[in-house]
Amino acid sequence: MDVVVFESLYGNTAAIARAIAAGLGEGARALTTSDATPDVVRSAHLVVAGAPVHGLGPPSERSRASARAKPQGELRLEADLGHVSMRAWLDTLPRGPRLAAAFDTRVRGPLGHGAATAIAHALAADGLTLLDEPRGFTVHLHTSSSQPGALLGVGELDAARAWGARLRALAAAA
Ligand SMILES: Cc1cc2nc3c(=O)[nH]c(=O)nc-3n(C[C@H](O)[C@H](O)[C@H](O)COP(=O)(O)O)c2cc1C
Repeated sequence: MDVVVFESLYGNTAAIARAIAAGLGEGARALTTSDATPDVVRSAHLVVAGAPVHGLGPPSERSRASARAKPQGELRLEADLGHVSMRAWLDTLPRGPRLAAAFDTRVRGPLGHGAATAIAHALAADGLTLLDEPRGFTVHLHTSSSQPGALLGVGELDAARAWGARLRALAAAA
């Protein structure tokens, strides 16, 4: 089984994770950090992990608290903080010889290295083999419109599906 594990406060990273899982194909599942338990991870061949960029890295307890305090946009979208953060999930990651890849969602371009690079480092530190460069997907923030707090950029779901298919091919060749 292949798993795509995500942290997502407003649903964008979750949507990208599901598209990556669709690109990976049969047997791949997108899972929250709560559902991706150590036992599930141990049974996985490929582990893809992603989170939103908060202040040039994965969300911290502080940035999650700040998101909780400030509903986004005119819809006053509330952050979903019902699952552990990607940072906390990475702390419980079982070590082992599995394949891996990391991604993030971000508003700005590749200023700094975003969350994906930090996630990739953590995966590699736990003995997983990275298949590809860390990958960022773009969202747009709508703070003064009727749109939700963040929306995926045009074409990003297609790009995520294509990246999933690329990871499948890289995993087969590894
Ligand atoms: C507290 C907070 C800090 C953020 N900091 C950044 C940032 O430094 N750079 C950036 O590109 N986007 C930043 N963002 C935008 C997030 O990347 C965006 O909300 C996220 O990609 C949406 O994904 P989600 O719907 O899965 O939560 C920030 C968002 C929040 C709530």
